Amino acid sequence: MKESSLMESFPFFAKHGHMVLGCFAVALLINLLLRSCRGGEQFVRPFRTEQNHNPIKELNPDEDFSEYGEATDGVEDDSPSLPENLEHVKFEYSRPTENEMRERSRKFYEITNARRTLRFFSPDPVPRDVIVNIIKAAGTSPSGAHTEPWTFVVVSNPDLKSDIRRIVEHEEELNYAKRMGKRWTTDLRPLGTNWHKEYLTQAPYLIFVFKQDYGILPNGKRKMHYYKEMSVAIACGILITAIQYAGLVTLTSTPLNCGPALRTLLKRPMGSLRHQAYEALN
Ligand SMILES: Cc1cc2nc3c(=O)[nH]c(=O)nc-3n(C[C@H](O)[C@H](O)[C@H](O)COP(=O)(O)O)c2cc1C
Repeated sequence: MKESSLMESFPFFAKHGHMVLGCFAVALLINLLLRSCRGGEQFVRPFRTEQNHNPIKELNPDEDFSEYGEATDGVEDDSPSLPENLEHVKFEYSRPTENEMRERSRKFYEITNARRTLRFFSPDPVPRDVIVNIIKAAGTSPSGAHTEPWTFVVVSNPDLKSDIRRIVEHEEELNYAKRMGKRWTTDLRPLGTNWHKEYLTQAPYLIFVFKQDYGILPNGKRKMHYYKEMSVAIACGILITAIQYAGLVTLTSTPLNCGPALRTLLKRPMGSLRHQAYEALN
């Protein structure tokens, strides 16, 4: 089969409620950590002082919130992106005993603790439906305002993998030689990484995760995406863990400056409504 791509979106209140709750807690934790990194006091103080009638505006006027979502003041359309009468997925829960919790958490820790980032892979085939299940699991991730701002692209075609490897090795050679600088390349030395990426043509599957900066509503207007970086990062965490749980192995790779060429190669160009519409349709 030639290049195959999957774009999967799944309801927020998916079946695995306990996992959703767990990830929600992680997201909250990340949020809190980010806030404290930015100077937690600035976020807390306005709610304590009496003269603050509009604490949101008082938080930090110079703060750049564009990473989380654009300010929407002045938008004429006041209908939400999701249906107003959104039907929520039924949540079913049966509380395990404390011993069961202990046992399950211990087993899960053992599985996650066995994960290693690998930079060599067997080319042995892996059933395609296993990869589909793994991506479906990642698609259960929570996302800011349930916007699911991700696209997963799976590549198994050898020619396409060679093209990808050529792009990545070309950029990585420049990264290591010029862009990353001495500090970064020095810190990477113990890990033994370099710009050679044989694994990109060895591994049976490459999974690319694209962040969607925004989507397209049925009426053709732009659909806002919120906390997209965090949402995609959480989905990646679930993806990696699902791969590990399935008994497979991974490398998380983030080669600098490869985004534009890979987006074009994998037909995921961004930056215009037309391109986004393409993305939404595929
Ligand atoms: C966000 C992120 C980016 C990473 N980028 C790369 C990368 O570009 N190349 C690479 O070889 N490893 C990359 N790694 C893998 C890390 O080097 C690896 O996770 C780390 O050394 C810890 O090893 P472990 O995953 O086996 O625990 C990345 C990991 C993360 C989480």
